[in-house]
Amino acid sequence: MNSMNDFQMLKDKKVQEIEDILQKYLPEKEGYQEIIMEAMEYSLMAGGKRLRPMLMSETRQLFSGESGAIHDFMAAVEMIHTYSLVHDDLPAMDNDEYRRGKKTTHVVYGEDMAILAGDALLNYAFETAAGAFLKAPEESQAIGRALGVLAGKAGIYGMIGGQVIDVKETGRRVEKEVLDTIYELKTSALIEASMMIGAILGGASEEQTKAVEKIAKNIGIAFQIQDDILDVTSTDKILGKPVHSDEKNEKTTYVTLFGVETAKKIVEEKSREAIGLLRGLPGENPYLEQLLLQLIHRDR
Ligand code: IPE
Ligand code: IPE
Ligand code: MG
Ligand code: MG
Ligand code: MG
Repeated sequence: MNSMNDFQMLKDKKVQEIEDILQKYLPEKEGYQEIIMEAMEYSLMAGGKRLRPMLMSETRQLFSGESGAIHDFMAAVEMIHTYSLVHDDLPAMDNDEYRRGKKTTHVVYGEDMAILAGDALLNYAFETAAGAFLKAPEESQAIGRALGVLAGKAGIYGMIGGQVIDVKETGRRVEKEVLDTIYELKTSALIEASMMIGAILGGASEEQTKAVEKIAKNIGIAFQIQDDILDVTSTDKILGKPVHSDEKNEKTTYVTLFGVETAKKIVEEKSREAIGLLRGLPGENPYLEQLLLQLIHRDR
């Protein structure tokens, strides 16, 4: 077996572990409001790359400390990410009917329930993360810092802020500087949160956490540019969501500004920069490096 196969097997195993964690944190389906628990499970367990919890866990391993809070935060960040997708797909936003290879939440449960399922995932994410205080009281300082990062990076100066500018600029040509801000916020912010929380729970200093933030920013921008590329080069089946969504919605992207070939080069550049910076951190994690390399050429 070659090393690429070894990597893929290890990755599949890690994805499965993350899915098991997510399943464990989902609320019981009960009460008159049972439908909301169903919609939460439908969207959260639909599949997906599980990149954010994976980056969190792998970043923690660069630092020395074990953490009793890491699973709570891995689940929380994937809940927030999933809520952002449920809302992103709504008719009032990108109006897409497929996500993670399945019908979008609003198609299956209606717009009203999809809005509420997004809200529910966001709120439940913080309920879940707050649970870490009881589970690992000896880590309360780090948990407090991690909660602050999660809330901030998901909010108006982070993911929500990015979605706001994205929506506001729909149908218009956007300058590169504004587009970079959109990507930094709508996509990098949650990736920064994931890696920073991994670092914090692993015992990183403020300075090290800042370095991780910078690495994650590059990873996030490269990730979004690759997402734009796949929107024009992939297929619905491979991607699990509709291609040409950006064109339909008249979005300015790296592809419309620079073309596919240049966009690909930028993905590679930003990713290699991130890997270079990663080597300046204390520990070593060859799996994480391999993962970042694989993301450059990902096809979904
Ligand atoms: C999609 O994120 C939204 C972007 C930020 C580009 P992912 O590509 O990580 O989606 P899943 O989690 O694998 O479905
Ligand atoms: C959305 O960007 C990023 C989010 C914060 C949800 P896109 O609109 O390009 O994401 P996809 O292509 O629908 O996954
Ligand atoms: Mg969008
Ligand atoms: Mg979208
Ligand atoms: Mg996209």
